Amino acid sequence: MFLNGRGDLPMLEITTPWSSAEIYLHGAQVTHFKKNGEPPLLFLSQCSRFAAGQPIRGGIPIIFPWFGKPTDKPNQHGFARIQDWDLRELAVTPDGSVSVRLQMAECADSSEYPSCAVDYLVTVSATLTVELVVLNKSAREFVFENCLHTYFTVGDIGAVSITGLKGVDYLDQTKAFARQIESNDAIRIASEVDRAYLGTPRTVEIQDASLRRTIRIEKQGSASTVVWNPWIAKSKAMPDFGDDEYQQMVCVETGNVDSDRLTLKPGAVSRLNMKLASAPLP
Ligand code: BG6
Repeated sequence: MFLNGRGDLPMLEITTPWSSAEIYLHGAQVTHFKKNGEPPLLFLSQCSRFAAGQPIRGGIPIIFPWFGKPTDKPNQHGFARIQDWDLRELAVTPDGSVSVRLQMAECADSSEYPSCAVDYLVTVSATLTVELVVLNKSAREFVFENCLHTYFTVGDIGAVSITGLKGVDYLDQTKAFARQIESNDAIRIASEVDRAYLGTPRTVEIQDASLRRTIRIEKQGSASTVVWNPWIAKSKAMPDFGDDEYQQMVCVETGNVDSDRLTLKPGAVSRLNMKLASAPLP
């Protein structure tokens, strides 16, 4: 069932009548999804590390239980993406879709985090659906952030427009987290972009005129959308990312960050669901 993936890390390879996908136990990371007859939907860096304790650069890193690098945290974007998860279930439905359930090692109760159970459901068909499920197993409130940090493949970043965020407030990390309002119908990227759009449950679309493809990102249980492209200087500064790869990717991330962070009561469950669909541009 498992193959030796890159860095000898265990990887699941999934094929359905419509598509193929790859999932690493490391970070429960979906690193590949491709619909038959289309280019890959997810971007994976040629320079990614595939090693214990290191995040994989591409696909869908799971960001949990914090986003970014708060001063009191040891690393950026939480610990879920650098842990090895367990495969708990794998099922093929009569129509040929494949569903997988992975589970993170249980967080023991600590002064920082209450005990919780974290599951990740991946369904591969003509679309890719993922769901991060967090159960607060403790007797106190659990406050956390989450994000499905999705890297999309694009033909040419200059030919990309992102719609669905007009009128939404965002924090601009390239301007010391200044709060702005998105005024554009379509976001175009021509420099470093690092924005957390807040309070938005809306579907977002990426139009890629170069690959002649529309990507549709539907979400449930998510109030934030992060848009990120490192552009030239930051690409060069990242050891696990190619200098020119910013031209072939954009991250549109689905989650709950900053003021959209979640508070789970004892025994409560949160579900962060994202469905990715693609189609040729008309
Ligand atoms: C984005 C952040 O979500 O992730 C960026 O908004 C960050 O600020 C990027 O640079 C990549 O983070 P990392 O830890 O995977 O290099």
